[in-house]
Amino acid sequence: MAKSTNDPSPVIQAVAKKDISSAVAIAGHPIHAMAVHFPIALAIATLGADVFYWWSADPFWLRAGLWAAGFSFATGVAASLVGTAELLLVPGIRSRAASWTHAIAAMMFVSICGMNWVVRLVTPDAVLPLGLALSGLGAVFTGLAGWHGGKLILHHGVGIMVSDDG
Ligand code: HEM
Repeated sequence: MAKSTNDPSPVIQAVAKKDISSAVAIAGHPIHAMAVHFPIALAIATLGADVFYWWSADPFWLRAGLWAAGFSFATGVAASLVGTAELLLVPGIRSRAASWTHAIAAMMFVSICGMNWVVRLVTPDAVLPLGLALSGLGAVFTGLAGWHGGKLILHHGVGIMVSDDG
């Protein structure tokens, strides 16, 4: 599926003609859009665990933060691999600047998750304040990456299917 545009620029018209259907999908539903909920939720859960540890000093929250940080990284890498496949395979996705903005924000986000996990593995005592600061930064970048990902779907119509029978 391509997008229609009234923009007079021939460059924008050429981009709008390119296919923006998802290439990595189950029955037309993009797998990346299904997968991103996990790193987003786990990064926020890491921040929550750190705040509860700061508040209660209960070592349970240290362990919860370690697991949440590790899985935010692992699921972030998995979601990014699928997103990268979409970026490289679909002409209308890779020719939009918004896709690359989203990819850069997402890579920053996944890198922060990885650093947050390794810091905890190597020096558990570093959770306060370094781990907490990384979790806060991770939450900010979740928002940035998620916002730009949402723009791809809601503004650019990437991966959207409009069926004739409603
Ligand atoms: C290099 C890594 C990534 C690339 C190239 C990428 C690319 C894309 C693409 C092409 C879409 C449009 C939907 C589709 O075609 O599947 C999208 C949507 C989205 N992406 Fe990513 N992505 C990456 C990593 C991430 C990560 C780590 C997150 C987590 C914050 C994320 C969050 C989102 C969100 C929230 C959407 C909109 C989904 C929806 O509204 O249902 N992306 N991304």
